[in-house]
Amino acid sequence: MTKTSSFAAPKGFPDYLPPASAQFVAVRDALVHAARLAGYGHVELPIFEETGLFARGVGESTDVVSKEMWTFPDRKNRSMTLRPEGTASVMRAVIEHGLDRGPLPVKLCYAGPFFRYENVQAGRYRQLQQVGVEAIGVDDPALDAEVIAIADAGFRSLGLDGFRLEITSLGDDTCRPQYRELLQQYLLGLPLDEETKRRVRINPLRVLDDKRPEVRELTADAPLMLDHLSESAKAHFDQVLGYLDALGVPYVVNPRMVRGLDYYTKTTFEFVHDGLGAQSGIGGGGRYDGLMAELGGQPLSGIGFGLGVDRAILALEAEGKTAADPARVDVFGVPLGEAAKSRLVELAGRLRAAGIRVDLSYGGRGVKGAMKSADRSGAKYALVLGDRDLAEGEIGLKDLSTGDQQQIRIDDTVAAVTAALAADR
Ligand code: HAM
Repeated sequence: MTKTSSFAAPKGFPDYLPPASAQFVAVRDALVHAARLAGYGHVELPIFEETGLFARGVGESTDVVSKEMWTFPDRKNRSMTLRPEGTASVMRAVIEHGLDRGPLPVKLCYAGPFFRYENVQAGRYRQLQQVGVEAIGVDDPALDAEVIAIADAGFRSLGLDGFRLEITSLGDDTCRPQYRELLQQYLLGLPLDEETKRRVRINPLRVLDDKRPEVRELTADAPLMLDHLSESAKAHFDQVLGYLDALGVPYVVNPRMVRGLDYYTKTTFEFVHDGLGAQSGIGGGGRYDGLMAELGGQPLSGIGFGLGVDRAILALEAEGKTAADPARVDVFGVPLGEAAKSRLVELAGRLRAAGIRVDLSYGGRGVKGAMKSADRSGAKYALVLGDRDLAEGEIGLKDLSTGDQQQIRIDDTVAAVTAALAADR
């Protein structure tokens, strides 16, 4: 057997390690919290599902399904796929457990890893982390606005402000097929190259989103879905914008927006951050009124989003901001001797029970090394205990930012530390 000297994580699968992982947790939790404030309940779903669920749900013609799925046979040769996104799985679970037969809308929130076999680059990974919500079973423009406002509030709660919300309507069953045909006819009449014409035949909408300047120029006057909405789709879209105004959520209408998943109808949106280069989408979503029926459930509508946790972190970095408390603990214990160590171990337990974050110097390190660890931990205070203090029933409470140290009664440690931390806040 050959011996490998070391292992590396699979390409595009990030590790999240301290101290950066604190930022990851803070971002994920803040985005989830925004959904909790609107009554979304937590769902935890399998990491992989039958391949057919995504093929049918997300759409065979999408890049996600045709090029990026992590598909493998299980031990009985059934085709399974690591989830590339959350919406299809949520629909499957809602149908399977009959939530669609209970009170509507069903409002669900999830957070976790998703898998896409993409070309890895800054902000584009093969394991990506999303926070998502889905609101299922009620076709009300106010619910569209709620979902969008949650994403907006989540990003803002992190301190982000260099992003914009782009929004459009992709129409519904009554207007989209005719529009698609109209657009196809129009585009096929243009002097486009053969490859682009092939794409016009498969998905003409995607050609409108082509970034090449020559294609942009040729398609500048192409008909837009927004100008061909059915009366009801138009009324729905106008009301969504009205509710967003009422909620104070700023937006830009982008009639050329194209999403990478096939299930969208009516309202679709993307949050775009300018500090991220090519991978500028920090979140996106929309309505998917035909999805549940497509997956064998009742014909119920739905709307949701997926927010990119990794990209939100990059956006914070681009804005020079942080969402995490850089301190790992509040207090760091420095024992100077064996008896002092046992007493500090016991005090650490009592402080933690009181909700105070505590770490200690372990391994019998000298005072210098222990103080260095204390500084590195980000703690506001060190508790310094020597055997002589112990005999006198006292302990040193050292403010690590000013260097001031006061002696306090050991028996008063929890109360004194609590008071000192409260005074700092
Ligand atoms: P999506 O636009 O494919 O939508 O992904 C949502 C977000 O996930 C993106 O805006 C981006 O921030 C992040 N993301 C996607 N791919 C990567 C990647 N390779 N690396 C890093 N971040 C990435 C969905 O997944 C839909 N399920 C959203 C939805 C829910 N629509 C309705 N309900």
